[in-house]
Amino acid sequence: MSPLQKVALLGRGKLGTVLLTELLNANYPVTVLSRTTTPATSLPPGATLHQVDYTSFEDLKTALTGHDTIISTLAYSAMPLQKPIIDAAIAVGAKRFIPAEYGAMEIDPRITYYKEPLEIRAYLAEKAERNEIEYAIFHAGVWMEVIFSTPLIVDFEHRGVRVFDGGVHGFSVSRVRTLARAIVASLEKREETRNRVVRVHDAVLTQRGVLEMAKKCTPGEEWVEISVDARKEVEELIEKTGERVDDLLWPGLFAAVLMSGGFGAQYRDVDNELLGIEMMSEEEIEEFSSGWKS
Ligand SMILES: NC(=O)c1ccc[n+]([C@@H]2O[C@H](COP(=O)([O-])OP(=O)(O)OC[C@H]3O[C@@H](n4cnc5c(N)ncnc54)[C@H](OP(=O)(O)O)[C@@H]3O)[C@@H](O)[C@H]2O)c1
Repeated sequence: MSPLQKVALLGRGKLGTVLLTELLNANYPVTVLSRTTTPATSLPPGATLHQVDYTSFEDLKTALTGHDTIISTLAYSAMPLQKPIIDAAIAVGAKRFIPAEYGAMEIDPRITYYKEPLEIRAYLAEKAERNEIEYAIFHAGVWMEVIFSTPLIVDFEHRGVRVFDGGVHGFSVSRVRTLARAIVASLEKREETRNRVVRVHDAVLTQRGVLEMAKKCTPGEEWVEISVDARKEVEELIEKTGERVDDLLWPGLFAAVLMSGGFGAQYRDVDNELLGIEMMSEEEIEEFSSGWKS
């Protein structure tokens, strides 16, 4: 199999920025596609910027020409744009497409938020079946940056926590940089990562463990704990959401699913060894959590 050499990177947000650094560190020339020509910061050497109108097929083809690897790190709201981007990638002869999914858990079709990622998966599988393009989907658990900066697992700001099933269930987590490193490493493991979900993680945490870290950062302070039955909450929120993609209910549903002990939230089979990803030590995790103190 020929090596992958030239990358078009779509999106320069939280993941895209870190991934760009990792790609450049590994000496991949990168074209960054963006809707705007005025990025907040200038691009580092080795990267070029290409402004693109994602709604124009011709524009997309021009932007993707000459790249064998297309990596989408677009925001969830841009998910539907990915089908024409895949078509454009095929039209210019790209070899590999990495879609923006970067989920934490197994995709359950009953959860409407997963409808679009599922459609993209099915679309890519169909194209791969016909040998038009290959793909790799990356899951690295919940981003640790999210855990330690939002009330998803514990509400640090208000010293409160809704404890799912006693907080005992494990779930996989990674730093954004680990996800980026796994993506870059996969480009040299083309055959082994072809047409499947690739999973890596930095650590397995529990809600109770995260709460203990939060308490260590707030010595002597009172935390309010409310017990929640995770499975019951998941079923209630799925029913409440119905057919809608409900941005208000989604964070609560995501939290309940993640901490329910199901939905493959704790990875059993990972590609860490294949991609050279070492897991974090307890000390490193604590060090990461100390960002709370500032
Ligand atoms: N597992 C996890 O814990 C976790 C956490 C967060 C995110 N994610 C997933 O990771 C992916 C990337 O997330 P992120 O936080 O890095 O994304 P982000 O920073 O919110 O956005 C990435 C880029 O998408 C582009 N974009 C945004 N809205 C768009 C639109 N309507 N049309 C076209 N382009 C648009 C923007 O690029 P330009 O303005 O330059 O065009 C933006 O910089 C998403 O698929 C998200 O669901 C996973």
